[in-house]
Amino acid sequence: MPAYSLNINNKNYTVEADAEMPLLWVLRDLLDLTGTKYGCGVASCGACTVIIDDNAVFACRRTVGNCVNKKIITIEGLSEDGSHPVQKAWQQAAVPQCGYCQPGQMMSAAALLIKNKRPSEPRDQ
Ligand code: FES
Repeated sequence: MPAYSLNINNKNYTVEADAEMPLLWVLRDLLDLTGTKYGCGVASCGACTVIIDDNAVFACRRTVGNCVNKKIITIEGLSEDGSHPVQKAWQQAAVPQCGYCQPGQMMSAAALLIKNKRPSEPRDQ
Protein backbone atom coordinates (compact mmCIF):
# COMPACT_ATOMS: atom_id res chain seq x y z
CA MET A 1 0.00 0.00 0.00
CA PRO A 2 1.45 3.43 -0.86
CA ALA A 3 2.53 5.86 1.86
CA TYR A 4 1.54 9.51 1.93
CA SER A 5 3.08 12.37 3.85
CA LEU A 6 0.47 14.77 5.08
CA ASN A 7 0.69 18.07 6.92
CA ILE A 8 -2.25 18.25 9.28
CA ASN A 9 -2.60 20.92 11.93
CA ASN A 10 1.04 21.87 11.39
CA LYS A 11 2.25 18.34 12.13
CA ASN A 12 3.66 15.90 9.61
CA TYR A 13 2.14 12.44 9.37
CA THR A 14 2.87 9.47 7.15
CA VAL A 15 -0.03 7.16 6.42
CA GLU A 16 -0.33 4.02 4.36
CA ALA A 17 -3.56 4.02 2.44
CA ASP A 18 -5.14 3.36 -0.90
CA ALA A 19 -4.80 6.50 -3.04
CA GLU A 20 -8.58 6.73 -3.34
CA MET A 21 -9.24 6.58 0.41
CA PRO A 22 -11.18 9.72 1.39
CA LEU A 23 -9.32 12.12 3.63
CA LEU A 24 -12.18 11.77 6.11
CA TRP A 25 -11.31 8.12 6.76
CA VAL A 26 -7.60 8.91 6.96
CA LEU A 27 -8.33 11.51 9.63
CA ARG A 28 -10.79 9.45 11.62
CA ASP A 29 -9.62 5.85 11.19
CA LEU A 30 -5.88 6.13 10.65
CA LEU A 31 -4.98 9.22 12.69
CA ASP A 32 -7.74 9.21 15.33
CA LEU A 33 -8.64 12.83 14.53
CA THR A 34 -12.32 12.20 15.09
CA GLY A 35 -13.44 15.80 15.36
CA THR A 36 -14.20 15.77 11.63
CA LYS A 37 -17.57 14.07 11.26
CA TYR A 38 -19.21 11.81 8.71
CA GLY A 39 -22.70 12.86 7.71
CA CYS A 40 -23.68 12.06 4.15
CA GLY A 41 -20.51 11.00 2.35
CA VAL A 42 -21.63 12.72 -0.85
CA ALA A 43 -20.49 16.33 -0.40
CA SER A 44 -23.94 17.47 0.65
CA CYS A 45 -24.08 18.11 4.40
CA GLY A 46 -20.72 19.71 5.28
CA ALA A 47 -20.16 17.79 8.52
CA CYS A 48 -16.75 16.68 7.23
CA THR A 49 -15.47 20.15 6.33
CA VAL A 50 -11.77 20.81 6.81
CA ILE A 51 -9.56 23.59 5.51
CA ILE A 52 -7.04 22.71 2.81
CA ASP A 53 -4.74 25.49 1.64
CA ASP A 54 -7.13 28.11 3.07
CA ASN A 55 -10.24 26.67 1.39
CA ALA A 56 -13.17 24.84 2.96
CA VAL A 57 -13.15 21.30 1.56
CA PHE A 58 -15.40 18.29 2.13
CA ALA A 59 -13.06 15.61 3.46
CA CYS A 60 -15.48 12.87 2.40
CA ARG A 61 -14.83 13.67 -1.26
CA ARG A 62 -11.11 14.51 -1.20
CA THR A 63 -8.83 11.51 -1.66
CA VAL A 64 -5.66 11.13 0.36
CA GLY A 65 -3.71 11.04 -2.89
CA ASN A 66 -4.84 14.61 -3.54
CA CYS A 67 -3.77 15.88 -0.12
CA VAL A 68 0.01 15.59 -0.42
CA ASN A 69 1.87 18.91 -0.23
CA LYS A 70 -1.23 20.64 1.11
CA LYS A 71 -1.77 22.37 4.42
CA ILE A 72 -4.70 20.65 6.10
CA ILE A 73 -6.44 22.05 9.15
CA THR A 74 -9.08 20.12 11.06
CA ILE A 75 -11.25 21.20 13.95
CA GLU A 76 -8.54 19.92 16.30
CA GLY A 77 -6.11 22.41 14.76
CA LEU A 78 -8.27 25.50 14.79
CA SER A 79 -6.62 26.58 18.05
CA GLU A 80 -5.20 24.78 21.06
CA ASP A 81 -6.90 27.00 23.61
CA GLY A 82 -10.25 27.95 22.10
CA SER A 83 -8.96 31.37 21.12
CA HIS A 84 -9.89 31.24 17.42
CA PRO A 85 -12.51 33.93 16.66
CA VAL A 86 -14.97 31.29 15.46
CA GLN A 87 -14.60 29.30 18.67
CA LYS A 88 -15.11 32.46 20.71
CA ALA A 89 -18.18 33.42 18.67
CA TRP A 90 -19.64 29.92 19.06
CA GLN A 91 -19.30 30.15 22.82
CA GLN A 92 -20.50 33.73 23.02
CA ALA A 93 -23.65 32.99 21.01
CA ALA A 94 -24.24 29.62 22.71
CA VAL A 95 -24.44 28.03 19.29
CA PRO A 96 -23.99 24.32 20.12
CA GLN A 97 -27.07 22.15 19.91
CA CYS A 98 -26.46 18.45 19.39
CA GLY A 99 -22.94 19.32 18.31
CA TYR A 100 -22.52 16.76 15.57
CA CYS A 101 -22.29 19.24 12.69
CA GLN A 102 -20.50 21.95 14.68
CA PRO A 103 -16.96 21.09 13.51
CA GLY A 104 -17.97 21.36 9.85
CA GLN A 105 -19.82 24.62 10.45
CA MET A 106 -16.91 26.06 12.38
CA MET A 107 -14.39 25.07 9.73
CA SER A 108 -16.55 26.65 7.01
CA ALA A 109 -16.73 29.86 9.05
CA ALA A 110 -12.97 29.76 9.69
CA ALA A 111 -12.30 29.35 5.96
CA LEU A 112 -14.54 32.35 5.27
CA LEU A 113 -12.52 34.44 7.73
CA ILE A 114 -9.30 33.48 5.96
CA LYS A 115 -10.67 35.02 2.76
CA ASN A 116 -12.68 37.86 4.32
CA LYS A 117 -11.59 39.21 7.70
CA ARG A 118 -14.79 41.23 8.13
CA PRO A 119 -17.70 39.45 6.45
CA SER A 120 -21.12 41.09 6.52
CA GLU A 121 -24.70 40.19 5.75
CA PRO A 122 -25.53 40.25 2.03
CA ARG A 123 -27.46 43.34 1.02
CA ASP A 124 -30.85 43.15 -0.67
CA GLN A 125 -30.52 43.82 -4.34
S1 FES B 1 -20.01 13.88 5.05
FE1 FES B 1 -21.52 15.21 4.24
S2 FES B 1 -20.38 16.60 3.00
FE2 FES B 1 -18.91 15.14 3.67
